[in-house]
Amino acid sequence: MLFYSRQNKWILSLFPVIKFSLFDFKVKRLMGRKRSRRYSEVESYDNFINVNVTGLDPVVFDKTWDNDFFGNDNGITLELGCGRGEYTLNLARRHPERNFIGIDVKGDRLCIGARKATEENLHNVIFIRIKIENILNFLPKSCIHEAWIPFPDPHSRNESGKKRLTSPRFLDIYRNLIIPGGHIHLKTDDNTMYNFSKESIGNSPAEIIHDTNDLYGSELDHPEVTTIHTTYEKRYLAESKKIKYISFAFK
Ligand SMILES: C[S@@+](CC[C@H](N)C(=O)[O-])C[C@H]1O[C@@H](n2cnc3c(N)ncnc32)[C@H](O)[C@@H]1O
Repeated sequence: MLFYSRQNKWILSLFPVIKFSLFDFKVKRLMGRKRSRRYSEVESYDNFINVNVTGLDPVVFDKTWDNDFFGNDNGITLELGCGRGEYTLNLARRHPERNFIGIDVKGDRLCIGARKATEENLHNVIFIRIKIENILNFLPKSCIHEAWIPFPDPHSRNESGKKRLTSPRFLDIYRNLIIPGGHIHLKTDDNTMYNFSKESIGNSPAEIIHDTNDLYGSELDHPEVTTIHTTYEKRYLAESKKIKYISFAFK
């Protein structure tokens, strides 16, 4: 600088903050554009239903739901909070005879799963944008045979745990949605989530089938549990975190 004053020094000291904020703003704007592109893209896929938009009511989806949608009654596996649908896609590739639904609130994440399923001609998969809290307004009771909850948000700072996908209100939804005896699989890296889930499931009318706080150090031989790794799981394994796993079923 050719001139110097206390005020200029103060402004200069702010420069990195302004530069950083501008960068942050540009990144956010680009991400926003990408997200909105995905929101319009996902609507074009036949394997995607946006319940918030269609407002379809459950009468449309009565007991013939799996027949109408999948053309068979081979049973439906549901992934709760599926994000990009990595678990759903992996299961669907392995079991072309079975049917899979991935649900999440985030349309831009579902877009990635719907795109992959379309590119790979996976006709046994659909993705639904809906809040799990509202799922019983859309799917009929007891229409699901099995469910997966891979790496749900742990909401570690949320003392009451109400938002956790294994809190009593969510378990009650699953009890209505999943046939008696249908297995529900939970995977997490988070201790709070794991301990909370164990207690919550223990207080519900469910039976714990398998429980380990170290999945890969355990004897469990279940390829669908141990050989499918979502982006989240890969990250936690790279950080040498222990993966916890609980499977349970309502009587
Ligand atoms: C940490 S991500 C895990 C995604 C995926 N299961 C995986 O392992 O890659 C949690 C996902 O759950 C979704 N989610 C959280 N609460 C939800 C709710 N109440 N209804 C629907 N989706 C929800 C979020 O939008 C997010 O995509």
